[in-house]
Amino acid sequence: MIKIKDLEFSDPLIIASGIVPDVPNYIREICEKYNPSAITTKTVTLNPLDPHAPPTVIKLYDGIYINAIGLGNPGAKIFDNINVQCPLIASVSGSSVSEIMEAVKIVEKKAKIIEINVSSPNRKGYGESLSSLIGNIVKEVKSVTNLPVFVKLGPWDNAVELAGKALEKGADGLTLINTIKGLVIDVDTFKPILSYGTGGISGRCLYPIALRIIKDVYEEYGVDIIGVGGVFEWADVIGMLAVGAKLVGLGTVLIEKGFNVINEIRKDLHSYLLEKGLKFEEIIGISVKK
Ligand SMILES: Cc1cc2nc3c(=O)[nH]c(=O)nc-3n(C[C@H](O)[C@H](O)[C@H](O)COP(=O)(O)O)c2cc1C
Repeated sequence: MIKIKDLEFSDPLIIASGIVPDVPNYIREICEKYNPSAITTKTVTLNPLDPHAPPTVIKLYDGIYINAIGLGNPGAKIFDNINVQCPLIASVSGSSVSEIMEAVKIVEKKAKIIEINVSSPNRKGYGESLSSLIGNIVKEVKSVTNLPVFVKLGPWDNAVELAGKALEKGADGLTLINTIKGLVIDVDTFKPILSYGTGGISGRCLYPIALRIIKDVYEEYGVDIIGVGGVFEWADVIGMLAVGAKLVGLGTVLIEKGFNVINEIRKDLHSYLLEKGLKFEEIIGISVKK
């Protein structure tokens, strides 16, 4: 069993934030059909936010996408209507510390873990704009919930330093990593293809970046980590566990291949463990000197 605080997970496969929309029936359907170890909700804010105008998600290459949905969401109160068996990781953001606290108070009733998103690159004033307030946000959120609080960071050069600030104020773990900001230009109009201009790049190209950051953070702090970024197959999951992740989020792979890939990866992981005579918990951090 993989343990995070009092929570136990039989395997590390969870769904990353933003892939299952905040529609209660849809979340329940995905939970019942595919049984992920947890579902991270799409980030909610205290009040509803409209998504940016389309196009908001574009496929760039096989396995690589750019999106700028911009944290569009129905508001934290949608959690009152979510009733699922799968553990929920509630992803929360806001435009201020107090807004995040208020949203956490609403979602925590239905969640097992709070994930604070201070890394979305797609909406000014939210997400990554708040990363400089990380210590304060963690301190205040910890004062309103007893759930484990994870902080989701982006693929930044100062990720280890920011992780340290979050942990110093009581964060229980880190989710690593969010998308990396990019730009694509329409060569007919010479304007950005995405209505927001820039967007977050996700998918296979993120995998080695995620691995490097997870390893650096795990090596420094030996803390609980949810690894996310470019995971497409079973070997990617094993690599992420080996550098210190306890749970592994599937994102773009679900957009590209559909949710049934969860079962395929799970089956391949179990064959690997059987062949090697290993358990998931024995692999976590195995490649990192501490
Ligand atoms: C369409 C889309 C929407 C996303 N929305 C969110 C979001 O609301 N909150 C968040 O923290 N991350 C969001 N992400 C980022 C993913 O959770 C993940 O960190 C990132 O895509 C890297 O993982 P991947 O390469 O497996 O997709 C989104 C990603 C995509 C592709």
